[in-house]
Amino acid sequence: MVNVVLKEGVNWVGAVDWNIRDFHGYNTNRGSTYNAYLIRDEKTALIDTVKSQFCDDLIAHVEELTTFDKIDYIIVNHVEMDHSSSLPAIAKLAKNAKILASVRGKDELIKHYGHYFDVVETVKTGDELKLGKKTLRFLEAPMLHWPDSMFTYDVEDKILLPNDAFGQHLACSERFDDEVDEHVLMEEAAMYYANILMPFAPLITRKIQEVVGMKLEIDMIAPSHGIIWRKDPMKIINAYLKWSAMESKNKVVIVFDTMWHSTDTMARAIADGVISQGVEAKLYKLRANSISEAMTEILDSKAVLVGSPTLNNGMFPTLGQFLTYATGLKPKGKLWSFFGSYGWGGGAVKGMADMAKKAGFEVYEPGVEVKFVPDKEDLKKCFDFGQQIAQKIKA
Ligand code: FEO
Repeated sequence: MVNVVLKEGVNWVGAVDWNIRDFHGYNTNRGSTYNAYLIRDEKTALIDTVKSQFCDDLIAHVEELTTFDKIDYIIVNHVEMDHSSSLPAIAKLAKNAKILASVRGKDELIKHYGHYFDVVETVKTGDELKLGKKTLRFLEAPMLHWPDSMFTYDVEDKILLPNDAFGQHLACSERFDDEVDEHVLMEEAAMYYANILMPFAPLITRKIQEVVGMKLEIDMIAPSHGIIWRKDPMKIINAYLKWSAMESKNKVVIVFDTMWHSTDTMARAIADGVISQGVEAKLYKLRANSISEAMTEILDSKAVLVGSPTLNNGMFPTLGQFLTYATGLKPKGKLWSFFGSYGWGGGAVKGMADMAKKAGFEVYEPGVEVKFVPDKEDLKKCFDFGQQIAQKIKA
């Protein structure tokens, strides 16, 4: 792939990972990209690198534009290895380059790659680097996505380079928002937010307010994953404000697994009860859907109903995985409740509710439990339960 021009002297020099389907547990059905950018003026700066398997792509893209000995600065916006694992090799090639990172970034680089990175120079919010006519300004953004994270702003070109923030895991041959299907783009942006950035919602709101307060003019947002926002950069900023405020609609997500279809039958009866009240219902059977897809649906829902059969006096293992993931991502302001089938002792419903309460979730009780196979009366209970939840979130 040839490198791509954002503005005069500013090029994308990253790599496309078409076939990644598991990004540390996040199901990346549409692949991803690792975006790096080269900014050339009197001085030349490389913004971030790529995952090490794709280092040759980065080298080829840079060499279409310049030679590595002409790179004066390498800016490390974030140390996570999808952006930095090529850095040791690139730093050796760009032997004249100073490496710049946040204070935490320098510390993390040394912890990842050793004392070769003792030479890293640190920058903080408000520091500027003159490249010639172009100026780079730095803005620390801790926890978006790691403590070291920072944004780089190209002042004259009005390009914000926020690394992980505003990204999407989306592999394609296009690089800009006006070249791709908007629905797919926003779907992937929401999935990325729900599965990576959701725990940091209050920090996101504050960081966006800080950027707005700085009155930065933004023509483009060039993140480290996926598509560059140039048609309407405010679209993704407004979406982040909405998501970080946990704006939700009358929608119930039902996440469940099943052994002999009893919990499955219950889930469908509960959904019917929800729908009967004019409320949207979405059903996600684990093992048929990924936990990342379920979390994306939960982002704008008001209630989450989780169903499990009892296995060995506890919840089915996939529900344990899902609840561990969900409680870690901390979706705020949702109503949670639980249902399931059992043969003799039970235990799944209580175990799941305890886990949710321990995480500080609002739990509606009692849920619904059915012995062995739901009969007509049991299914009426499930339907009524769905109705109650729907009425509660509409109130
Ligand atoms: Fe894309 Fe936090 O790394």
